[in-house]
Amino acid sequence: MLGSFNMDLVVLAPQLPEPGETVLGTEFLRGPGGKGSNQAIAAARLGGEVAFVGAVGADDFGDEARRQYEEEGIDTTFLLTVDRPTGVALIMVDDDAENLIAVAPGANSLVTPDAVRSATDAIAGADILVGQLEIPVESFLTAARIASEAGTTVLLNPAPAAPLPDDIWAVLDVITPNEHELGSLAGAAPIEWAATDLRSRGDIDVVVTRGPTGVLWTGANGTRQIPAVRAVAVDTTGAGDAFTAGLAVGIAEGASMEKSISLGLRAGAHAVTKPGVLDGLATRSELDRLFPE
Ligand code: RIB
Repeated sequence: MLGSFNMDLVVLAPQLPEPGETVLGTEFLRGPGGKGSNQAIAAARLGGEVAFVGAVGADDFGDEARRQYEEEGIDTTFLLTVDRPTGVALIMVDDDAENLIAVAPGANSLVTPDAVRSATDAIAGADILVGQLEIPVESFLTAARIASEAGTTVLLNPAPAAPLPDDIWAVLDVITPNEHELGSLAGAAPIEWAATDLRSRGDIDVVVTRGPTGVLWTGANGTRQIPAVRAVAVDTTGAGDAFTAGLAVGIAEGASMEKSISLGLRAGAHAVTKPGVLDGLATRSELDRLFPE
């Protein structure tokens, strides 16, 4: 796993504020977050053997990240401590489980191509490389080239939305945009056309996450809409991360795309049932009990 760690500072409130508005919340939560870290922890809990390539600062939030990874059994050989504060995300969640997120990347912006190169053997020896866009895109591209060369499957969760370099498509195997990210990559075309457009750029499996609607998957055999697993949502933060991790673990285990997507959807369903991210990231046995196949 290559990506970000943020400390999530979360306010639960009846509704999200408009620009310039103050709303009174009901609760404050604090916990490990960041798209890369969430996906790493989710994958480890689902049974994946995970090494995390990233960066934290020499501060309390960075120490907390390291303690969490130790607890989760995640390999931190390639987790740098750098001269910038650990990333922070300010998050608000309303009564409809919707959120607003602003991230100060801090240490995450020092996950450089050189830092990635130091993990070359681990990337080349892995079943799958998973990355997102809360670190510099050229660092992901460096890792993806190493992985692609070595025959490691490359999965990009292109979040948050950002332009991608043209040469990235040749080294991607799977991409998991949400509808907003798909629009930013492929323009305002209908979702099926946009997914087909992305697929055509590199023979990629395109899995578009659509919240309670499920996913739209465009692969070698065409396009399929796969429904979501039903769950009562209290907080959707991290649900996309749980989905991506489940999909990645399935692929790494050699499961079919259908089965891997199903694992992702079950993990995503569990994630929305808990406030904050960490408690929503299920173990395999929790998923088998609460959201059986
Ligand atoms: O995807 C959810 C994550 O986005 C949060 O944990 C927050 O840190 C932001 O990176």
